Amino acid sequence: MTAPLELPARPDAGRRAPALPQGADTRRAAWQEARLNLAAHPLLWPAVRLVGRSGAVLRVPGLGVVVNDALLAHDVLCRDDLFRKQGRGGIAEVMTQAFGPSALANMDGDPHRALRRRLGPLASAEQADAWLDASRSPLDRAFAALAQGRTVDLARTARTLSGRLTLTLMGVEPWPPVPGARDGADDTDALAVHALGERIASALQLSRLPERRLGAVQADLDRLLAYAERAFASDTLPPGSLVARLRTMGCTAEETRGILSIFFIAGALTLGVTLPRVVALLVDSRQLALVHRDASLVGAAVDEGLRYTCPVPLTLRIAAADTRLAGTAVRAGERVFVLTANLARDPQLFPDPHRYDVTRVHDPRARYLWYGAGPHFCLGFTLAQRALHAAVAHIAGTFPALRITRRRASRGVLLPAWRELRVVATDAP
Ligand code: HEM
Repeated sequence: MTAPLELPARPDAGRRAPALPQGADTRRAAWQEARLNLAAHPLLWPAVRLVGRSGAVLRVPGLGVVVNDALLAHDVLCRDDLFRKQGRGGIAEVMTQAFGPSALANMDGDPHRALRRRLGPLASAEQADAWLDASRSPLDRAFAALAQGRTVDLARTARTLSGRLTLTLMGVEPWPPVPGARDGADDTDALAVHALGERIASALQLSRLPERRLGAVQADLDRLLAYAERAFASDTLPPGSLVARLRTMGCTAEETRGILSIFFIAGALTLGVTLPRVVALLVDSRQLALVHRDASLVGAAVDEGLRYTCPVPLTLRIAAADTRLAGTAVRAGERVFVLTANLARDPQLFPDPHRYDVTRVHDPRARYLWYGAGPHFCLGFTLAQRALHAAVAHIAGTFPALRITRRRASRGVLLPAWRELRVVATDAP
């Protein structure tokens, strides 16, 4: 048996939360977030919350071992020699079936590190800004409409942005792709790409896909990758696109397919669901006005929004050897679920964890755990942070208050999301 992982010490456990900022009301925000999670996972979501109250580590018969503790989860994610992606009963197995062996999130050890090292430049701030500049027009159009007093569906805006980002990564530029077409008149491709990504993501499950299901997923993926192949074959492949960068880096066809697939699924989709959730939280909790008055709170509003919503609610590993986690035996081959949605509400690190508070100062030991930790830490971290910062800074900087006029939660999706979130600018919260 390998050395056990114990619960890390918490010298300042039991800290109390400071008083809520004046005017803030977090009950409505909590209720709307619960509604959203229940629409996506009517049975799983209550179970996850229940398990969260059952201690740092828990064995769930037939499923595996569950980790709720933030600091222990961090150690698990960093020990990739002991807790691996590959193995029977993990999502990585399905990714390998559908995306091939080089999709990063289904790799372990030296081959994974070597590929991440080669892809390092893709995580730079300059690269993130270039991709965002090329994709941001849906956001700009939404901001302009709000400023004119029109109602905007932020969920649709975010889906279009996500689709545009995907197309930019694949080298589909300039925009609009049809010469002479008006930008915005043709969001069809962007929305179609987003819908394909959603369908592929919802096929990811804990056991190998049967032949027919696999065929359907691969057909969707081929439809998505066809955009990249068309751009690749043209003489005008933009040199900054992900496809062109992968070609310059000498990636093989198999690596390119894997990396593009994971960028769509782990990347553009995540960003698309997060932005409307963070804005809805700011509006529902009546804290948008606070950020409007004090722009230095933008970063905290984004970080707290990510902690509260946890767009990727869990990650999974397979134990490579017998070990113990905070006293609980884990057998080789067993699943270890890191329940990010629970550990981001660990009361010892985040006092009064069920309240969204833009003035909360995050404990540096658990910061950014919603992007993972260790070797698989989110490769799109800089891109996601810059996109969310830019959008929240613009919204909060321009509008002291927004009113949500209509909203609808997506049902049966992998990542909880607003299907519709109509907002209009108003004078008072
Ligand atoms: C708010 C937005 C995002 C969140 C919350 C998020 C969260 C995560 C998490 C939790 C992981 C690690 C999963 C694990 O350890 O098993 C991850 C991995 C990854 N993310 Fe993100 N992500 C976001 C946006 C993005 C974007 C915009 C991109 C790129 C376009 C991206 C690309 C990736 C990739 C490629 C991986 C796999 C890394 C690896 O396994 O080495 N993500 N993300």
